[in-house]
Amino acid sequence: MNQIGVALVGCGMVAAVHIAALKEIPAAKICGVWNRTRETMLEFAEKHGVNTYDSYEAMLSDPEVNTVIITLPPALHGDYGLQAASAGKNIIVEKPIDIDPEKADRLIQACRKNNLKMAVIFQNRYTAAAQKVKNALDQGVLGKIILADAYVKWYRSPEYYKSGAWRGTWEIEGGGALITQAIHTIDLIQWFMGGAHSVYGRIKTAFHKIKTEDLGLAIVEYKNGALGVIEGSTAVVPGFKERIEVHGEKGTIVLEGGNIKEWKVEGQRESDFVAGEQISFGDTNSPAISHVNHKAQLEEVLQAFFHNEEPLVNGEEGLKSLQIVKAIYTSSQSGQKILL
Ligand SMILES: NC(=O)c1ccc[n+]([C@@H]2O[C@H](COP(=O)([O-])OP(=O)(O)OC[C@H]3O[C@@H](n4cnc5c(N)ncnc54)[C@H](O)[C@@H]3O)[C@@H](O)[C@H]2O)c1
Repeated sequence: MNQIGVALVGCGMVAAVHIAALKEIPAAKICGVWNRTRETMLEFAEKHGVNTYDSYEAMLSDPEVNTVIITLPPALHGDYGLQAASAGKNIIVEKPIDIDPEKADRLIQACRKNNLKMAVIFQNRYTAAAQKVKNALDQGVLGKIILADAYVKWYRSPEYYKSGAWRGTWEIEGGGALITQAIHTIDLIQWFMGGAHSVYGRIKTAFHKIKTEDLGLAIVEYKNGALGVIEGSTAVVPGFKERIEVHGEKGTIVLEGGNIKEWKVEGQRESDFVAGEQISFGDTNSPAISHVNHKAQLEEVLQAFFHNEEPLVNGEEGLKSLQIVKAIYTSSQSGQKILL
C-alpha cells in the first residue's frame, strides 16, 4: 500500500495519542500539524518531531494531505470538518462527531456529495474483546437478548475540569460525562444491539462545579427489542471500570474495562473466552490513554480510505451515539421519552 498523507488540526492531549499511533503505521505519512495557538503548536511539533503549517488553510491546500484528523474541542469538529470537505480532504474526527447532530449530518452529506470518506474515532470497538462480543451477538449465541446495561462510573477531578476552558460547558463540550466519557460505552452497546429505538433520561450536576452533567441515567429500548439502562458519571469516587452486561435467553456476557469478564453462554466454555486483564480505560482520574486501540482504528480507516471503502465507524455510525446522548439531554429536560 502506498502512503496516505495525513495532517492533524488541534495539538492537545489526544493529538499526541494520534501521532504515537500514526508513527507505527507504515501506510501513514504525517504531513504536519496546525493549532490555533502557535506556541502550543511549536511545542507539540518539537516534542513529536512533526512539521507545522502556518494556517488551517495552508494545511488544506497541501496536495500531499489526503486526510485531515480533527482533534479539536467537540463543538469545532463540524465546522473544521466542513472546511476540510470543501477542500476535498477525507476526514477522521475524534468523538463526539460534533455536539450538534444536524451539523454532523451536514458534514456527512458534504463528504458524500464530494465523494470523500469520513470516520469517527471510537477506538474501543477495536479491542479483541469488543470484536469477540460483537461477532458472538451477531451469530446469535445469546438467543433473544432481553437486557443490555452500560455502566460508566468514572471519576474526574476538579483539576481535570479546569484543565481546558471548554470542559464542562454546554457551548463547546456540548455536555459532560455522557458526551465525553460515557459516549465510548454508549457507542459500544448501541453497536452490539444494532441501534437504539427510544430513550428516557435524567441528568444532574451532582458533584463538580461545572455547567453540564457529571451524572446521567437513561432507560433505553434497543432496536432488537432489548431494554437496558445507561449510567454515566465522572463523579463516582474513586472511579470504577466501565461495564457492559448483556443478558439473553441463552446466557450472559459481561465486558469490564475492555476485557471479557463473564461468558456464561449455553454450550460454550467460559475459559475459552475470559482471558487475563489486558486493557484498562480511563476509570480513575488520569486518563493516560494508550495509543494501541487508536492505532488499530487508524490502520483500518486508512486502509478503507485507500481502497475507497467505508470504515467500520463512518459518519453515520459515529453519529448514533451522539443522537442517544442528545436524546438523554432532551428527555431530561422534557420528562418525555424520546424516539430516535
Ligand atoms: N478517543 C478518545 O479516547 C479521546 C480521548 C481524549 C479526548 N478525545 C476527544 O478529542 C477531542 C480533543 O480533546 P483533547 O483532550 O485533546 O483536548 P485538548 O484541550 O487537550 O486539546 C484541544 C486542542 O484544540 C485547540 N483549540 C482549542 N480551542 C480552539 C479553537 N477555538 N480553535 C482552534 N483550536 C482550538 C487547543 O489549543 C488544543 O491544542 C475532544 O473531542 C475529545 O472528546 C478523545
